[in-house]
This record gives sequence, structure tokens and C-alpha cells, in this order.
Amino acid sequence: MDPLVAAIDQGTSSTRFLVFNAKTAELISHHQVEIKQRFPKEGWVEEDPKEIMLSVYECIERTCEKLCQLNIDISNIKALGVTNQRETTLVWDKETGEPLYNAIVWLDLRTQPTVERLINKAPGRNKNHLKHKTGLPISTYFSAVKLRWLLDNVDEVQQAVLSRQALFGTVDSWIIWCLTGGRNGGVHCTDVSNASRTMLFNINTMAWDPELCRYFEVPMEILPKVRSSSEIYGWMKSNSLAGVPISGCLGDQSAALVGQMCFREGQAKNTYGTGCFLLRNTGTKPVMSEHGLLTTVAYKLGKNEPACYALEGSVAIAGAVVRWLKDNMGIVQSSSEIEKLAAAAGTSYGCYFVPAFSGLYAPYWEPSARGIICGLTQFTNRKHLAFAALEAVCFQTREILDAMNQDSGVPLTELQVDGGMTSNRLLMQLQADILCIPVVRPTMSETTALGVAMAAGAAEGVDVWHLRRNLAVGAERFEPQINSDGERASSASLVGRRPSRKP
Ligand SMILES: Nc1ncnc2c1ncn2[C@@H]1O[C@H](COP(=O)(O)OP(=O)(O)OP(=O)(O)O)[C@@H](O)[C@H]1O
Ligand SMILES: [Mg+2]
Repeated sequence: MDPLVAAIDQGTSSTRFLVFNAKTAELISHHQVEIKQRFPKEGWVEEDPKEIMLSVYECIERTCEKLCQLNIDISNIKALGVTNQRETTLVWDKETGEPLYNAIVWLDLRTQPTVERLINKAPGRNKNHLKHKTGLPISTYFSAVKLRWLLDNVDEVQQAVLSRQALFGTVDSWIIWCLTGGRNGGVHCTDVSNASRTMLFNINTMAWDPELCRYFEVPMEILPKVRSSSEIYGWMKSNSLAGVPISGCLGDQSAALVGQMCFREGQAKNTYGTGCFLLRNTGTKPVMSEHGLLTTVAYKLGKNEPACYALEGSVAIAGAVVRWLKDNMGIVQSSSEIEKLAAAAGTSYGCYFVPAFSGLYAPYWEPSARGIICGLTQFTNRKHLAFAALEAVCFQTREILDAMNQDSGVPLTELQVDGGMTSNRLLMQLQADILCIPVVRPTMSETTALGVAMAAGAAEGVDVWHLRRNLAVGAERFEPQINSDGERASSASLVGRRPSRKP
């Protein structure tokens, strides 16, 4: 039996556990559990850290059962990697092991007043005041402002900091700490890709920055140790996989970049999950954007390997608009139903949907923006609305692709894509039409998990995965079928669709 490598993929909407063959990258088995999102007040988004851990344990155990049913010995699992929703912020007590508040999810807007205060005190009210160190604008999105809110508003957090019992972390840190023993010797660490999303990490020196910590008034002793994305952090303490090394850690968007094998400068991918995130590898140098993109640490695949950077266009709401149409409006019963509904109309009939539920991220960085639906007539029905929602995802991607092309000067000639929404073929065709370049989707859609499995399997001391080897991965191409005047070259795939244009 070939060695196996496992991955925990803790996303905003769900947790997954997946097991890959380290020689062929074949997905052997997996299990997925949906995560409950809480909206206690308008603009607030929280998740329960204990529910997150329970979902991780459940996914591990259920996958191990499935492997046993396949007559696969779980002792073939040689390493485990963790990839996660980024920026989501937790504080817990290292003595009791208890979370001191719910996880504040990246989409959460409660820190808008904090952000305004911080921007007001920056020279020239410049939201890019810290960009030279962090690659990021001051925004509700990043962990430092969420942590600031916890320190200001939650007594338990303040007390735990005073008694030196508080630990801060993003979801990766929380999972690794729990899996390596929790209050009985858990390892408190994160990787460079996750650290680079906190706004406390200097992406030039690759360390926590005392000046940034002073700026946000964050005590440095509560921060996790920053490690590379591929090294042994610790070993699983309990459950079926006790003794297996945890040796890969990457933020989900970085993991997808690795999983799509975008190792060379200029290569890019777009992942369509809750939000959508276009990352382009810029090699070993951080490139600062002139067009509203972020500069982020993509990965550092080994203690002695150089860090690689990426330019990133982040869109807050992509799949979440479909979830909203399902959960809040009830116009579909499941996310996948939207495709049939939208295809039945084949057009939005002049209806436009700007799903700025959490403000607008790249390239605007405008936290006060809110969603609108416009262009409605007596004729508009839920099919048109469904179509407009899918188009909205494509238009947002077009905007960040344009920014990316302007920043790099070398236009992308095709777009590699992945994520839950890419199972929607109508969306993929619309995206190719709206970008006017081909969209390429791998047949194995779990690239986020694959990326961190690769990092875990390649770590020194594990050595079961060879990163630069060429894997024969299948892919499907969606060619643009629309010309620049908005006319369709063929009517084969979108029957009766009247091409809509960007307003
Ligand atoms: N066929 C579909 N058409 C449109 N949207 C879909 C479809 N299937 C799933 N989605 C949307 O995609 C999202 C789930 O994608 P995915 O599974 O990649 O997310 P995740 O990994 O759990 O979360 P994260 O965004 O943190 O990665 C949901 O918001 C869902 O509404
Ligand atoms: Mg995901």
C-alpha cells in the first residue's frame, strides 16, 4: 500500500477530512460536516470553537471508519495537514482549554467603528498606512482589529490576559493546539501564510512586529509561534490517529494555490467558496499593489525554504450569496438547485445584484457598502434573481482580474479555478464569457485539502510527497462563447440567454 496523507480543511461553511495517496494524489476517502454560522446582531458573524473541534473529530473518525470498510489500514496515514478559513479570530484559556468567546469570523463587521478610529489616527487618514509592513489595508477583515475588540469588550479575555492564561490564534492554531494535547502540552503555533493575515506580522522580516503590536495594543505573549508551512509541529495525541505527525499548515487560499500547483511566478488560481479569492504567485518578492489588491505570504514550504508571496484579490461574498438565497429568501432548497433555476431563465433580464453584505473588499475596501438589487421590473422573477446572483460572482471576479492584470502588466491568458461553487457549470461558462479567457477546472475539486496534504507529506522527517513532481491531473476547460460586443458565438450551452452587460 502506498503511503497516505490526510488533510483537515476547516472552511467557513464546513469542515472536511480527506485522505490522499501520497504517490498518485488520488483522493481515497473523506467526510464533511456543515458548520453553523451565528448572526447574533446585524453585521456580526460568529462560530463556536468547540463545534469546530467536534466537527474535526467527527470527520476524522468517520473517515477512518470508511477507510476500514475499504480494508485500508489507517496506519498507512503518515502525516496530517491543517488548512483553514483565514483571519477568523479566537482567544482561549491555556489552563482550562476553554474558548473565552465565540470565534469572530472573517466576514464580521462589528469592528467598523474600531477601523474608523484607527484610520482617523493614521497620517493623512490613509487606510494603507501599515501596508509597507503588512501588505494589507486597515479593514474589518483582518485579525488584529477583531482581537482588539475582544480585548476591549470581553471581561473573560481581559482577565485571562492579566493572569497570563490567554492564547490568541486563528483557526489553524486552535485546531493544532487541541490536536496536540490542548491544556496538556498542546503546541501553540501558526504558519507564515496565516500569520500574514493578522496585520501583526511583518511580511518583510517574517516575524511578529513589535511596532504593529503596539499600534493595535496587543500583548505579544498571547501570539502563537510562527513556523513554516511544512514542518513537524507536533503529533496527534488521541483518537484513531494518535502518533501521526501534524506537518502542514496553510491558510485555505494558500493551500489552494499549492494544490493547483501554482509554484511559478505569474501562475494564478481563483477559489469560489463562501467568498472568492484570486491569488497570483509573485515569487520570493512581495509586490505592492497599485490597484487595491493585497500582498500576502503565499507559503514557505520548509524551515530552510524561502517564503513565496502572492498578490490577492479578495471578494467577501460569492457562494454566500447562494446560501443567502437559500437560507434567507427560500428561493432554492439547496445550493446546487440555483444552477437549474438560473439556466431556466438564461438571463438576468437587466437585473443586477451587488451582494455587498459585508461591505466591499478588493479593490474598494469600503466597509460601509451594503448589498443592492436593481433593474427590477414587473417581469422579474426568482429565476432572473438566481441568474443575477451568479453573474454577480463573475463580475466581481472580473474586477479583481482587471486589477491583477494592471498590477502585473502581464494579462492572465486563462484562469484556474476550484472550490464548492465550481461544480456549477453555468457559473463556469458565465465566468469564461465575462472574463473573455478560458476557465480551467480540475476534475478533483478538493485542491485546498490537496495543497496542505502536499505540504504535510513533503515535510522533513515525513518525506512521502515530492512537491515538484508532475502529477497527471485531469481538468475541464470552459471557453468563452461571447465576443466583445456581447454576442454569443454559439447558443449551445446557455439556451435563450440574452447576454447581460456590466452596468
Ligand atoms: N452548485 C452550486 N452552485 C452555486 N453555489 C454553490 C454550489 N455548490 C455549493 N455552492 C456554494 O459554495 C459554498 C461552499 O463552497 P466550499 O465548499 O468551497 O466552501 P467551504 O470550503 O466550506 O468554505 P470556505 O469558503 O471557507 O472555503 C457555499 O456558500 C455554497 O452556497
Ligand atoms: Mg474551503
